[in-house]
Amino acid sequence: MSLVVWDDSYCTGIKTFDEQHQVLFGLIDNLLAGVAENREHETVSNTLDALLEYTKDHFAAEEKEMLAHAYPDYEEHKKEHQKLLNNVVAYYVKFRADDTLSTADLVRFLIDWLQNHIHEMDKKYAPHLAPKV
Ligand SMILES: [Fe+2]
Repeated sequence: MSLVVWDDSYCTGIKTFDEQHQVLFGLIDNLLAGVAENREHETVSNTLDALLEYTKDHFAAEEKEMLAHAYPDYEEHKKEHQKLLNNVVAYYVKFRADDTLSTADLVRFLIDWLQNHIHEMDKKYAPHLAPKV
């Protein structure tokens, strides 16, 4: 059963980003399942790696469109992305080095972050970008 589920309240109206957000939900859900099922450290680590790579690509895609269409809150939005990436990379490094560490706290943090970020920040760019992309 999926616990982290995308629904219409997360819709920005920009197809590419909505699809990418759904993939992110899926990856986080996979990470959560890894914790719940006590999967091997290496397996969880690979999921975390995939999530990190996908998140980087997704942020870059959003930032590219925001910049191309002179979105006024570009800098603030980019800073939020950078902060999240720094946090996750720091955690990832610790996690790789310590196989007793669980991703439970990280997963909770990611769920909160993603939900709030889409609702509060991504939905703000929607009216500006949707007619242009
Ligand atoms: Fe964003």
